[in-house]
Amino acid sequence: MSVIFLGPPGVGKGTQSEIFAKNNGFIHITTGNLLRKFSQGSSELAKTVKEKMDSGALVNDDLVFKILVEYLKSFTTKKVIFDGIPRNVEQAITLAGVIKDAGIKISHVINFCIDEDILSKRILGRFVCNDCLATYNEFFNRTKLDGVCDYCGSESFSKRSDDNDTSLKLRLKLFKTNNSGIKRFYAENGLLYEISADRDPICISKDINSICNTR
Ligand code: AP5
Repeated sequence: MSVIFLGPPGVGKGTQSEIFAKNNGFIHITTGNLLRKFSQGSSELAKTVKEKMDSGALVNDDLVFKILVEYLKSFTTKKVIFDGIPRNVEQAITLAGVIKDAGIKISHVINFCIDEDILSKRILGRFVCNDCLATYNEFFNRTKLDGVCDYCGSESFSKRSDDNDTSLKLRLKLFKTNNSGIKRFYAENGLLYEISADRDPICISKDINSICNTR
């Protein structure tokens, strides 16, 4: 089985993906991280992608799927968490074909729900370890030892260049425009589950485990 995590920016998809992947032996695929890596290149296309991501706009579908299909070829497990894709119904349809070709089957789609007001603190307070990409938050989830990554011991952190008010506005707008269509798509296939994301991460992960392992 494989799963898809849906939800607005900052809701905790990445955080929960990491926990679920570790506990259940899944691979966590986040199109955001794949695109961020691509955008660090020196080509004109890489620069365009960076500009788009910094502004909060979506990257062109063809490029997203080209990078995703290439990445899917790099491992053989069929236990995958898709985080950050699909972003609209067209992507949901294309993704269905791509994962079928890869021999992957989606068993659950989890939609993370939260009050919009909470998202700004989650986005603006986020900082990331530059070495292992572990995610922290100034307000909710600091490192145990100040300035030292809990997982790899690195002392190098950064903020994402799209984690600002202006970009968040556009990311939220795009999410709100597209989420109901995506939910309908998966509900029609009997795959959709809703989960409240305004809780302690451990409670949320228990609920996700229970949905994915018992239903
Ligand atoms: P992407 O990287 O996917 O960003 P996003 O969708 O905006 O989601 P985030 O990563 O911001 O949030 P998250 O839900 O993972 O939250 P997290 O767990 O980190 O995409 C970035 C860009 O790439 C897009 O804007 C677009 O340009 C492009 N892109 C990506 N995919 C694309 C696609 N398919 N098509 C086209 N373009 C695409 O948590 C956030 C913070 O909250 C952290 O600080 C965390 O510590 C904290 N936190 C998490 N859970 C909790 C909790 N329960 N309680 C308190 N704090 C918490």
